[in-house]
Amino acid sequence: MNQNRKRILSGMRPTGRLHLGNYVGALENWVQMQESAAYENFHLIADYHVLTTDLGTAEIYANTIDMIIDWLGAGIRPEVSPIFRQSQIKEHAELFLIFSMFITKERLERNPTLKDQVRDLNLGETIGYGHLGYPVLQAADILVYRGEVVPVGEDQLPHVEITREIARKFNATYGPVLPEPEVRLTSFARLTGLDGQAQMSKSRGNGILLSESPQEITAKMRKAVTDPQKIRRGDPGRPDICTVFMHHRKFNPSEEAEIRAGCESGQLGCVDCKLRCATHIADFLAPMREKRAHYEAHMDEVKDILHDGEKRARVEAQKTMAEVRRAMKLGEI
Ligand code: TRP
Repeated sequence: MNQNRKRILSGMRPTGRLHLGNYVGALENWVQMQESAAYENFHLIADYHVLTTDLGTAEIYANTIDMIIDWLGAGIRPEVSPIFRQSQIKEHAELFLIFSMFITKERLERNPTLKDQVRDLNLGETIGYGHLGYPVLQAADILVYRGEVVPVGEDQLPHVEITREIARKFNATYGPVLPEPEVRLTSFARLTGLDGQAQMSKSRGNGILLSESPQEITAKMRKAVTDPQKIRRGDPGRPDICTVFMHHRKFNPSEEAEIRAGCESGQLGCVDCKLRCATHIADFLAPMREKRAHYEAHMDEVKDILHDGEKRARVEAQKTMAEVRRAMKLGEI
Protein backbone atom coordinates (compact mmCIF):
# COMPACT_ATOMS: atom_id res chain seq x y z
CA MET A 1 0.00 0.00 0.00
CA ASN A 2 1.05 3.55 -0.61
CA GLN A 3 3.37 4.77 2.14
CA ASN A 4 2.29 8.38 1.80
CA ARG A 5 -1.37 7.79 2.38
CA LYS A 6 -2.78 8.32 5.82
CA ARG A 7 -4.67 5.33 7.05
CA ILE A 8 -8.28 5.93 7.97
CA LEU A 9 -10.13 3.54 10.22
CA SER A 10 -13.86 4.06 10.18
CA GLY A 11 -16.49 1.81 11.67
CA MET A 12 -20.14 1.30 12.50
CA ARG A 13 -22.04 -1.14 14.62
CA PRO A 14 -24.25 -3.30 12.39
CA THR A 15 -27.73 -2.31 13.44
CA GLY A 16 -29.44 -2.70 10.06
CA ARG A 17 -30.37 -0.43 7.22
CA LEU A 18 -28.95 3.06 7.20
CA HIS A 19 -30.86 6.34 6.96
CA LEU A 20 -30.03 9.68 5.38
CA GLY A 21 -28.58 10.89 8.68
CA ASN A 22 -26.01 8.08 8.56
CA TYR A 23 -25.24 9.06 4.99
CA VAL A 24 -24.77 12.76 5.67
CA GLY A 25 -23.04 12.18 9.01
CA ALA A 26 -20.63 9.46 7.94
CA LEU A 27 -20.87 7.58 4.65
CA GLU A 28 -20.70 10.59 2.36
CA ASN A 29 -17.51 11.54 4.10
CA TRP A 30 -16.03 8.07 3.83
CA VAL A 31 -16.62 8.02 0.09
CA GLN A 32 -14.99 11.45 -0.31
CA MET A 33 -11.93 10.28 1.57
CA GLN A 34 -11.79 7.11 -0.50
CA GLU A 35 -11.58 9.23 -3.64
CA SER A 36 -8.76 11.36 -2.22
CA ALA A 37 -5.16 10.36 -2.92
CA ALA A 38 -4.25 11.42 0.62
CA TYR A 39 -5.95 8.49 2.35
CA GLU A 40 -6.24 4.76 2.53
CA ASN A 41 -9.55 3.57 4.02
CA PHE A 42 -10.38 0.58 6.19
CA HIS A 43 -14.04 -0.01 7.01
CA LEU A 44 -14.82 -1.94 10.15
CA ILE A 45 -18.09 -3.63 11.03
CA ALA A 46 -18.16 -3.55 14.82
CA ASP A 47 -20.19 -6.70 15.40
CA TYR A 48 -18.68 -7.45 18.82
CA HIS A 49 -19.65 -3.97 19.97
CA VAL A 50 -23.32 -4.81 19.39
CA LEU A 51 -23.06 -7.35 22.19
CA THR A 52 -22.25 -4.65 24.74
CA THR A 53 -25.86 -3.49 24.75
CA ASP A 54 -27.76 -6.14 22.85
CA LEU A 55 -27.07 -9.67 24.01
CA GLY A 56 -29.12 -12.45 22.49
CA THR A 57 -31.62 -10.31 20.60
CA ALA A 58 -29.68 -8.71 17.75
CA GLU A 59 -29.83 -10.09 14.21
CA ILE A 60 -26.14 -9.44 13.81
CA TYR A 61 -25.51 -11.28 10.54
CA ALA A 62 -28.63 -10.01 8.73
CA ASN A 63 -27.93 -6.49 9.94
CA THR A 64 -24.34 -6.77 8.79
CA ILE A 65 -25.41 -7.72 5.28
CA ASP A 66 -27.99 -4.91 5.13
CA MET A 67 -25.38 -2.42 6.24
CA ILE A 68 -22.74 -3.60 3.77
CA ILE A 69 -25.23 -3.27 0.91
CA ASP A 70 -25.93 0.30 2.00
CA TRP A 71 -22.20 1.05 2.12
CA LEU A 72 -21.71 -0.38 -1.36
CA GLY A 73 -24.77 1.47 -2.64
CA ALA A 74 -23.36 4.74 -1.29
CA GLY A 75 -20.13 4.27 -3.21
CA ILE A 76 -17.67 2.41 -1.01
CA ARG A 77 -15.45 0.52 -3.47
CA PRO A 78 -14.31 -2.61 -1.66
CA GLU A 79 -11.44 -3.29 -4.04
CA VAL A 80 -9.96 0.01 -2.81
CA SER A 81 -11.24 0.09 0.76
CA PRO A 82 -11.51 -3.26 2.56
CA ILE A 83 -14.73 -4.03 4.46
CA PHE A 84 -14.42 -6.50 7.33
CA ARG A 85 -15.95 -7.76 10.54
CA GLN A 86 -14.25 -7.37 13.88
CA SER A 87 -15.37 -10.85 14.96
CA GLN A 88 -13.58 -12.56 12.05
CA ILE A 89 -10.15 -11.19 12.84
CA LYS A 90 -8.87 -12.65 16.09
CA GLU A 91 -6.25 -9.96 16.56
CA HIS A 92 -8.98 -7.53 17.72
CA ALA A 93 -9.69 -9.73 20.72
CA GLU A 94 -6.02 -10.24 21.43
CA LEU A 95 -5.12 -6.56 21.39
CA PHE A 96 -8.26 -5.78 23.41
CA LEU A 97 -7.00 -8.08 26.14
CA ILE A 98 -3.55 -6.49 26.15
CA PHE A 99 -4.99 -2.97 26.13
CA SER A 100 -7.20 -3.77 29.12
CA MET A 101 -3.96 -3.76 31.16
CA PHE A 102 -3.26 -0.19 30.09
CA ILE A 103 -6.32 1.53 31.52
CA THR A 104 -8.06 1.74 34.87
CA LYS A 105 -11.69 1.02 35.53
CA GLU A 106 -12.01 4.50 37.06
CA ARG A 107 -10.94 6.03 33.76
CA LEU A 108 -13.54 3.96 31.90
CA GLU A 109 -16.24 4.87 34.40
CA ARG A 110 -15.64 8.54 33.60
CA ASN A 111 -16.44 7.97 29.89
CA PRO A 112 -19.30 10.40 29.14
CA THR A 113 -20.61 8.28 26.24
CA LEU A 114 -21.06 5.40 28.65
CA LYS A 115 -22.91 7.65 31.11
CA ASP A 116 -25.28 8.77 28.32
CA GLN A 117 -25.91 5.17 27.33
CA VAL A 118 -26.59 4.06 30.87
CA ARG A 119 -29.16 6.84 31.12
CA ASP A 120 -30.76 6.30 27.69
CA LEU A 121 -31.01 2.54 28.06
CA ASN A 122 -32.07 2.66 31.71
CA LEU A 123 -29.24 0.38 32.73
CA GLY A 124 -29.37 1.55 36.34
CA GLU A 125 -26.47 0.99 38.69
CA THR A 126 -24.87 -2.06 37.14
CA ILE A 127 -22.79 -2.25 34.05
CA GLY A 128 -21.32 -5.21 32.17
CA TYR A 129 -17.56 -5.73 32.17
CA GLY A 130 -17.52 -5.81 28.36
CA HIS A 131 -19.67 -2.70 28.15
CA LEU A 132 -17.29 -0.84 30.45
CA GLY A 133 -14.53 -1.94 28.09
CA TYR A 134 -16.30 -0.68 24.95
CA PRO A 135 -13.68 2.02 24.28
CA VAL A 136 -10.83 -0.43 24.90
CA LEU A 137 -12.18 -2.67 22.14
CA GLN A 138 -12.55 0.40 19.93
CA ALA A 139 -8.92 1.32 20.66
CA ALA A 140 -7.93 -2.18 19.55
CA ASP A 141 -10.04 -1.78 16.37
CA ILE A 142 -8.18 1.37 15.46
CA LEU A 143 -4.66 0.50 16.55
CA VAL A 144 -4.54 -3.08 15.29
CA TYR A 145 -4.52 -1.44 11.82
CA ARG A 146 -2.37 1.46 12.99
CA GLY A 147 -5.20 3.80 12.05
CA GLU A 148 -4.07 7.42 11.93
CA VAL A 149 -7.35 9.18 11.28
CA VAL A 150 -10.72 8.23 12.72
CA PRO A 151 -13.81 9.83 11.21
CA VAL A 152 -16.53 9.85 13.87
CA GLY A 153 -19.39 11.88 15.27
CA GLU A 154 -19.04 13.93 18.41
CA ASP A 155 -20.39 11.19 20.66
CA GLN A 156 -17.34 9.11 19.80
CA LEU A 157 -14.73 11.72 20.76
CA PRO A 158 -14.20 10.24 24.24
CA HIS A 159 -13.46 6.85 22.68
CA VAL A 160 -10.78 8.22 20.41
CA GLU A 161 -9.31 10.12 23.36
CA ILE A 162 -9.06 6.87 25.29
CA THR A 163 -7.46 5.27 22.22
CA ARG A 164 -4.82 8.00 22.23
CA GLU A 165 -4.16 7.54 25.93
CA ILE A 166 -3.71 3.80 25.50
CA ALA A 167 -1.35 4.30 22.54
CA ARG A 168 0.71 6.80 24.55
CA LYS A 169 0.93 4.53 27.54
CA PHE A 170 1.85 1.53 25.39
CA ASN A 171 4.59 3.46 23.61
CA ALA A 172 5.92 4.90 26.85
CA THR A 173 6.14 1.40 28.30
CA TYR A 174 7.39 -0.63 25.33
CA GLY A 175 8.72 1.82 22.75
CA PRO A 176 7.14 3.54 19.76
CA VAL A 177 4.96 0.90 18.12
CA LEU A 178 1.53 2.54 17.82
CA PRO A 179 0.36 5.81 16.25
CA GLU A 180 -1.73 8.30 18.21
CA PRO A 181 -4.76 8.63 15.96
CA GLU A 182 -6.51 11.91 15.33
CA VAL A 183 -10.23 12.53 15.03
CA ARG A 184 -11.93 13.79 11.92
CA LEU A 185 -15.33 15.08 12.97
CA THR A 186 -17.99 14.04 10.50
CA SER A 187 -21.13 15.23 12.21
CA PHE A 188 -20.94 18.90 11.21
CA ALA A 189 -23.88 18.42 8.87
CA ARG A 190 -26.44 16.60 10.93
CA LEU A 191 -29.96 15.92 9.70
CA THR A 192 -32.68 16.22 12.32
CA GLY A 193 -35.46 13.62 12.59
CA LEU A 194 -38.64 13.88 10.52
CA ASP A 195 -40.63 13.78 13.78
CA GLY A 196 -39.02 17.03 14.90
CA GLN A 197 -36.56 15.29 17.24
CA ALA A 198 -33.01 16.59 17.20
CA GLN A 199 -31.57 13.18 16.36
CA MET A 200 -32.38 11.01 13.40
CA SER A 201 -32.29 7.53 14.87
CA LYS A 202 -32.85 4.04 13.66
CA SER A 203 -34.95 3.03 16.63
CA ARG A 204 -37.33 5.97 16.26
CA GLY A 205 -37.78 5.35 12.53
CA ASN A 206 -37.73 9.10 11.99
CA GLY A 207 -35.45 9.13 8.98
CA ILE A 208 -35.62 8.11 5.34
CA LEU A 209 -33.67 4.92 4.64
CA LEU A 210 -31.21 4.69 1.76
CA SER A 211 -33.13 1.59 0.65
CA GLU A 212 -36.61 3.14 0.53
CA SER A 213 -38.67 3.42 -2.64
CA PRO A 214 -39.95 6.77 -3.98
CA GLN A 215 -43.42 5.85 -2.64
CA GLU A 216 -42.06 5.13 0.82
CA ILE A 217 -40.06 8.36 0.78
CA THR A 218 -43.15 10.37 -0.12
CA ALA A 219 -45.20 8.68 2.59
CA LYS A 220 -42.57 9.43 5.24
CA MET A 221 -42.14 13.02 4.06
CA ARG A 222 -45.89 13.65 4.20
CA LYS A 223 -45.87 12.82 7.89
CA ALA A 224 -42.86 15.00 8.69
CA VAL A 225 -43.27 17.59 11.43
CA THR A 226 -42.76 21.15 10.19
CA ASP A 227 -42.94 24.57 11.88
CA PRO A 228 -45.86 24.22 14.32
CA GLN A 229 -46.76 27.87 13.75
CA LYS A 230 -47.39 27.25 10.07
CA ILE A 231 -50.73 25.52 10.13
CA ARG A 232 -52.03 26.17 6.65
CA ARG A 233 -50.82 27.54 3.39
CA GLY A 234 -50.57 31.30 3.68
CA ASP A 235 -49.13 31.23 7.20
CA PRO A 236 -45.50 32.40 7.21
CA GLY A 237 -43.07 29.63 8.19
CA ARG A 238 -39.61 29.47 9.76
CA PRO A 239 -37.45 27.33 7.49
CA ASP A 240 -34.49 27.37 9.83
CA ILE A 241 -36.32 25.30 12.43
CA CYS A 242 -37.82 22.89 9.88
CA THR A 243 -36.39 19.45 9.18
CA VAL A 244 -37.97 19.40 5.69
CA PHE A 245 -36.09 22.58 4.82
CA MET A 246 -32.90 21.03 6.15
CA HIS A 247 -33.49 18.14 3.75
CA HIS A 248 -34.05 20.61 0.88
CA ARG A 249 -30.76 22.32 1.64
CA LYS A 250 -28.93 19.04 1.42
CA PHE A 251 -30.75 17.27 -1.40
CA ASN A 252 -32.23 20.15 -3.39
CA PRO A 253 -29.70 22.98 -3.05
CA SER A 254 -30.55 24.66 -6.36
CA GLU A 255 -34.05 25.50 -5.10
CA GLU A 256 -33.05 26.41 -1.56
CA ALA A 257 -33.52 30.16 -1.95
CA GLU A 258 -36.87 29.80 -3.66
CA ILE A 259 -38.17 27.36 -1.03
CA ARG A 260 -37.02 29.64 1.78
CA ALA A 261 -38.78 32.64 0.22
CA GLY A 262 -41.95 30.63 -0.40
CA CYS A 263 -42.03 29.29 3.15
CA GLU A 264 -41.31 32.64 4.80
CA SER A 265 -43.92 34.47 2.75
CA GLY A 266 -46.45 31.69 3.28
CA GLN A 267 -47.05 31.17 -0.42
CA LEU A 268 -45.57 27.70 -0.38
CA GLY A 269 -47.66 25.25 1.63
CA CYS A 270 -46.03 22.48 3.64
CA VAL A 271 -47.59 19.68 1.60
CA ASP A 272 -46.20 21.02 -1.68
CA CYS A 273 -42.86 21.68 -0.06
CA LYS A 274 -42.70 18.10 1.27
CA LEU A 275 -43.65 16.54 -2.04
CA ARG A 276 -40.97 18.49 -3.84
CA CYS A 277 -38.47 17.45 -1.24
CA ALA A 278 -39.48 13.79 -1.54
CA THR A 279 -38.96 13.89 -5.31
CA HIS A 280 -35.46 15.29 -4.95
CA ILE A 281 -34.50 12.76 -2.30
CA ALA A 282 -35.84 9.92 -4.45
CA ASP A 283 -33.75 11.20 -7.38
CA PHE A 284 -30.71 11.54 -5.19
CA LEU A 285 -31.09 7.97 -3.96
CA ALA A 286 -31.89 6.47 -7.39
CA PRO A 287 -28.31 5.44 -8.26
CA MET A 288 -27.86 3.95 -4.78
CA ARG A 289 -31.11 2.06 -5.14
CA GLU A 290 -29.88 0.58 -8.39
CA LYS A 291 -26.56 -0.54 -6.91
CA ARG A 292 -28.30 -1.96 -3.86
CA ALA A 293 -30.65 -3.94 -6.09
CA HIS A 294 -27.67 -5.44 -7.87
CA TYR A 295 -26.09 -6.64 -4.64
CA GLU A 296 -29.37 -7.87 -3.21
CA ALA A 297 -29.67 -10.08 -6.26
CA HIS A 298 -26.01 -11.18 -6.05
CA MET A 299 -25.49 -12.15 -2.45
CA ASP A 300 -22.44 -14.24 -3.39
CA GLU A 301 -20.66 -11.06 -4.45
CA VAL A 302 -21.39 -9.50 -1.07
CA LYS A 303 -19.93 -12.50 0.72
CA ASP A 304 -16.86 -12.48 -1.51
CA ILE A 305 -16.35 -8.79 -0.79
CA LEU A 306 -16.47 -9.46 2.91
CA HIS A 307 -14.13 -12.44 2.78
CA ASP A 308 -11.67 -10.60 0.59
CA GLY A 309 -11.74 -7.56 2.91
CA GLU A 310 -11.21 -9.78 5.92
CA LYS A 311 -8.23 -11.46 4.31
CA ARG A 312 -6.58 -8.11 3.56
CA ALA A 313 -7.39 -6.67 6.98
CA ARG A 314 -6.08 -9.79 8.73
CA VAL A 315 -2.66 -9.39 7.10
CA GLU A 316 -2.35 -5.87 8.51
CA ALA A 317 -3.63 -6.89 11.93
CA GLN A 318 -1.16 -9.78 12.12
CA LYS A 319 1.73 -7.46 11.29
CA THR A 320 0.81 -5.14 14.14
CA MET A 321 0.37 -7.97 16.60
CA ALA A 322 3.78 -9.40 15.72
CA GLU A 323 5.32 -6.04 16.57
CA VAL A 324 3.29 -5.67 19.74
CA ARG A 325 4.34 -9.11 20.93
CA ARG A 326 7.95 -8.49 20.04
CA ALA A 327 7.95 -5.20 21.94
CA MET A 328 6.36 -6.85 24.98
CA LYS A 329 8.64 -9.88 24.84
CA LEU A 330 5.66 -12.17 24.59
CA GLY A 331 6.17 -15.47 22.87
CA GLU A 332 9.86 -15.41 22.05
CA ILE A 333 11.56 -18.77 22.29
N1 TRP B 1 -18.33 3.00 18.48
C1 TRP B 1 -18.54 3.34 17.11
C2 TRP B 1 -19.97 3.86 16.92
O1 TRP B 1 -20.84 3.44 17.62
C3 TRP B 1 -18.33 2.17 16.19
C4 TRP B 1 -16.90 1.73 16.20
C5 TRP B 1 -16.38 0.60 16.74
C6 TRP B 1 -15.81 2.45 15.61
N2 TRP B 1 -15.05 0.55 16.52
C7 TRP B 1 -14.66 1.66 15.84
C8 TRP B 1 -15.71 3.67 14.91
C9 TRP B 1 -13.40 2.08 15.41
C10 TRP B 1 -14.46 4.08 14.48
C11 TRP B 1 -13.32 3.29 14.73
O2 TRP B 1 -20.19 4.66 16.06
